[in-house]
Amino acid sequence: MSLIRLDKYLADMQVGTRSEVKKLIRAGKVQLGGHICKNADEKFDPEQVAVMVDHVSVGYAAYEYFMLNKPKGCVSATEDPRYPTVLDYITEHKRKDLFPVGRLDLDTEGLLVITNDGALAHELLSPSKHIPKTYEAKIDGIVTETDVERFAQGIDIGEKKPTRPADLVILKANVISHVRITICEGKFHQIKRMFAAVGKPVLELKRISMGALQLDEGLATGEYRPLTEEEIGYLRQRG
Ligand code: URA
Repeated sequence: MSLIRLDKYLADMQVGTRSEVKKLIRAGKVQLGGHICKNADEKFDPEQVAVMVDHVSVGYAAYEYFMLNKPKGCVSATEDPRYPTVLDYITEHKRKDLFPVGRLDLDTEGLLVITNDGALAHELLSPSKHIPKTYEAKIDGIVTETDVERFAQGIDIGEKKPTRPADLVILKANVISHVRITICEGKFHQIKRMFAAVGKPVLELKRISMGALQLDEGLATGEYRPLTEEEIGYLRQRG
């Protein structure tokens, strides 16, 4: 059982700011378990006790999980002085403490999990877990079997150690090549640096999966949806 203060709960549920919800409570507009409660400090268990504001029930979610098809031009952060953040795309949510699990570059698209479950995020991002992340990319140059072998062996991208083996699949080899690449780590700009190391710049990058979680092809860039229970299970298994 976890208890929460009434004013904090209402603010977390976005009913209003702390001072706004305190006013609502004082005005007798908030019911806790069917009774008007005028005490903002009152602690209760939101899993057990129903809360109503102006006779409308307030939903409670301890944790929320979303899949966003991240568009280019937004940052994987909770706030930014220059760019929109990935959270700006999650327009309907209950929790105020959402954050993206890991980072995609400003110009990278695709699968990004957004949640307030810090423990799960920590597990997914832990370098020791080696969660595979698969991307599709357009590459400036002809990607060859030699590149496939070099990526499988590990590449020097200027870190202490070479990259861990990456699975590179050539979908189309041409002046602009199309590839699918799976990496099991998440160094800063990793895929761009790997291709830079073989002299072939990345033109476009899109993440299509993370562990067993696949990007929903029905989501246009910029669209999101809650994860299903099954999908949350995929992430937990990997953690
Ligand atoms: N590798 C990159 O270079 N950029 C990303 O956004 C993700 C992986």
